[in-house]
Amino acid sequence: MIAFQRTAMAQELVAALQGKTLLGDAHNGLFLAAPRRTGKSTFLQGDLRPALQAAGVVVVYVDLWADAQRDPGGLIAEAIARALEPQLGLVARSAKKAGLDKVKVGGLEVDTSKIGKVDGLTLTEALRLLHESAGKPVSLIIDEAQHALTSEAGETAMTALKSARDQLNRPGAVNLMLVMSGSDRDKLLRLVNTVAAPFYGSQIQRMPPLGPDFINHVAGLIEAQRTELRPVDQSLLLQAFEVFGYRPQFFMAALGQVLSPLADVAGRFEPALVEAARQQQAQDEAQMASDYLGLKPTEQAVLWRMLAQGPRYRPYDAEALRFYRDITGRPVSVTQAQKALEALRQHMPALVWKSARGEYALQDVAMHRWFDTLVATDMWPPRASHGHLPLDDD
Ligand SMILES: Nc1ncnc2c1ncn2[C@@H]1O[C@H](COP(=O)(O)OP(=O)(O)OP(=O)(O)O)[C@@H](O)[C@H]1O
Ligand SMILES: [Mg+2]
Repeated sequence: MIAFQRTAMAQELVAALQGKTLLGDAHNGLFLAAPRRTGKSTFLQGDLRPALQAAGVVVVYVDLWADAQRDPGGLIAEAIARALEPQLGLVARSAKKAGLDKVKVGGLEVDTSKIGKVDGLTLTEALRLLHESAGKPVSLIIDEAQHALTSEAGETAMTALKSARDQLNRPGAVNLMLVMSGSDRDKLLRLVNTVAAPFYGSQIQRMPPLGPDFINHVAGLIEAQRTELRPVDQSLLLQAFEVFGYRPQFFMAALGQVLSPLADVAGRFEPALVEAARQQQAQDEAQMASDYLGLKPTEQAVLWRMLAQGPRYRPYDAEALRFYRDITGRPVSVTQAQKALEALRQHMPALVWKSARGEYALQDVAMHRWFDTLVATDMWPPRASHGHLPLDDD
């Protein structure tokens, strides 16, 4: 396991969050999107968190996917409470010793028996308490933030965070830095792009994928361990990494295989690595085709419409219903479309995601790329090879 540090990017974001950059709006909230498995969580925890801490910021990290059954508001509150514990421990102990059951921290009165817990406090109060007891700015990093939109409790939490930001921050004094990340730009957009959205006016930024500097680091490791392989062809390594969709895990696993003394590789390992990447891509696409072909006709039509429409997708408008009918060859009612969407959500793995407001999106954005490629090459829709029996809606 190697961990490539992305220090420069972390430093830039810290400055932006502190409002120190001339332009930009990160002090109002930083929204970062990047595809699955490209290193978001690793960067947030391994690079951004320590960089913020080094800059004198208290960091609270919470992953809303850690427990999909739990209410996101509860998960956020719990993470804040954990951060409060060491801050308030001292205050609480001395208050208890003095026989006080209430202490004042900043402008807030806190029940000493409840210190370290946030029940009874709103998220805003808890964040203010953390900020004032630590005497430092607070950064709340929310990983997979789009998950908050799947429940009303989560939406409420997001609205509360927006209000906390507005109460704690003033021009020139950024006391609450919000960082939200997710694997799907379209879903994150729902936090910012309508007047009713909690972070209306903020922009979603694409978290840059690992790139040539990562490859350079890896090549250096190979050359140090296997001197006979010098010089490593970095451009081929980078090419393989691209085909792997910039996902370090798959790249490193394949690299381990082609470099293994047991590997059946004739000649250099770099072309073998590119080949492994191509195979993986073909496999991923075959899996998507097989998932698609395993669906019932109405489910296929609904998925097709979502792929074609992207963020403009409306499940039940007249045009969508006409589309479903054209594809399936028979009328599709709103109820049937609803049932199909539900089935796509319950599918293993889930193909469709639904927000608390009833908006739908694809679970895996990689499907869009697959769809676009097939459409461009006139290969859409995928056709059943042997092994696929056409299913019927019951
Ligand atoms: N900077 C890095 N150096 C080396 N390996 C990395 C780096 N960043 C990520 N990885 C590896 O890539 C894999 C995915 O990383 P991570 O979980 O951070 O991605 P993610 O985008 O948060 O994924 P998910 O979408 O599943 O949440 C992990 O196996 C991790 O070890
Ligand atoms: Mg992650």
